Amino acid sequence: MEVTVKNLKRYYSERLVLDVDDLTMEKGKIIGIIGPNGSGKSTLLNIIAGLDEGYSGRVRYDEQPIDKEIYKEMTIVFQKPYLFRRKVYENIEYPLKIRGIKRAEIDERVEKIIERFEIEDLRDKKAHLLSGGESQKVSLARALIFEPKLLLLDEPTSNIDPESIKIMEREIVRFNEETGGTVIIVTHNMEQSDRLCDDIVYLEEGKVGH
Ligand SMILES: Nc1ncnc2c1ncn2[C@@H]1O[C@H](COP(=O)(O)OP(=O)(O)OP(=O)(O)O)[C@@H](O)[C@H]1O
Ligand SMILES: [Mg+2]
Repeated sequence: MEVTVKNLKRYYSERLVLDVDDLTMEKGKIIGIIGPNGSGKSTLLNIIAGLDEGYSGRVRYDEQPIDKEIYKEMTIVFQKPYLFRRKVYENIEYPLKIRGIKRAEIDERVEKIIERFEIEDLRDKKAHLLSGGESQKVSLARALIFEPKLLLLDEPTSNIDPESIKIMEREIVRFNEETGGTVIIVTHNMEQSDRLCDDIVYLEEGKVGH
């Protein structure tokens, strides 16, 4: 889906941390958000995800304000991933279960994504015992499995080894190409944004720069 942001302001106490006049993130593209620490990247992503309502201005999804249906079509992978204290397999199947997909299809789709992410060895491990990088991989797999129309990624490969980065980038691009889902990815890695992104948004002190 397309995301447009107009006259967006987010204050913490008196401090203006995000101030975006007019920004369009086109449907079907991979958009990178880059900028220094504290420039408002996570704040912007959380607002788009519908998780922070303490702002003024407008956020639209295919020209519509957020509602339950839109909310169900998107997902965010946080900078610090959050997984349930259950097996990896159960974490990955969760988005399909709550959407009422049948058991046989769930199993098929979970097996496929585990194979694509090359995480067969993690399948039956308890998710809260995973390393930081392993958790990030599992979180991305869980986000991709239900084929969202909008995928929001906050530094998804910050703790990841080079071999696994390749796998994760490959799966992000595959998702985008196969489903046409829009991806907004925060990253500090310029090579990664060059490799993946159609457009780049540069944030500095809460404002969009060039
Ligand atoms: N809950 C909060 N209360 C007060 N200030 C906050 C809060 N969350 C974020 N901020 C401030 O808002 C600014 C933007 O934070 P944000 O997390 O969006 O930055 P970021 O660009 O994602 O940085 P990083 O690259 O370090 O992840 C920072 O100065 C931060 O200190
Ligand atoms: Mg951040």
